[in-house]
Amino acid sequence: MEPLFQSCEFAKPEFWDQQFGQSKSQFDWYLDFEQLRVYFEKVIPVPKSARVLLVGVGNSQLSEKMHDAGFQNTVSIDLSSVVIEKMRQVALQKHKPIQYL
Ligand SMILES: C[S@@+](CC[C@H](N)C(=O)[O-])C[C@H]1O[C@@H](n2cnc3c(N)ncnc32)[C@H](O)[C@@H]1O
Repeated sequence: MEPLFQSCEFAKPEFWDQQFGQSKSQFDWYLDFEQLRVYFEKVIPVPKSARVLLVGVGNSQLSEKMHDAGFQNTVSIDLSSVVIEKMRQVALQKHKPIQYL
């Protein structure tokens, strides 16, 4: 029997490729950087030089806002190659050396 999560649409790259293929703008599905900032700065203080892995970044602005706040050693990954390519283009256009893999 296939595990429940793997049978779910959200676990399939094709689902997300289709979603992101249609979207033109950036969108934070969960919390944005301003909402998360307190956790980075006060709750679990993270040095600005920390290597941070953002899993399932989608088309959110989190990596970009973190970069602007001084966290310039992030790696953002996603299941969808479509959104990763889009985010690479956005970063290039904005001249921000953010790593999307
Ligand atoms: C609901 S979106 C959230 C995007 C972003 N974190 C945000 O808050 O705006 C879920 C994202 O997780 C990605 N995803 C789902 N399963 C994944 C996996 N196993 N590894 C990496 N990314 C995954 C999807 O492609 C999608 O971009």
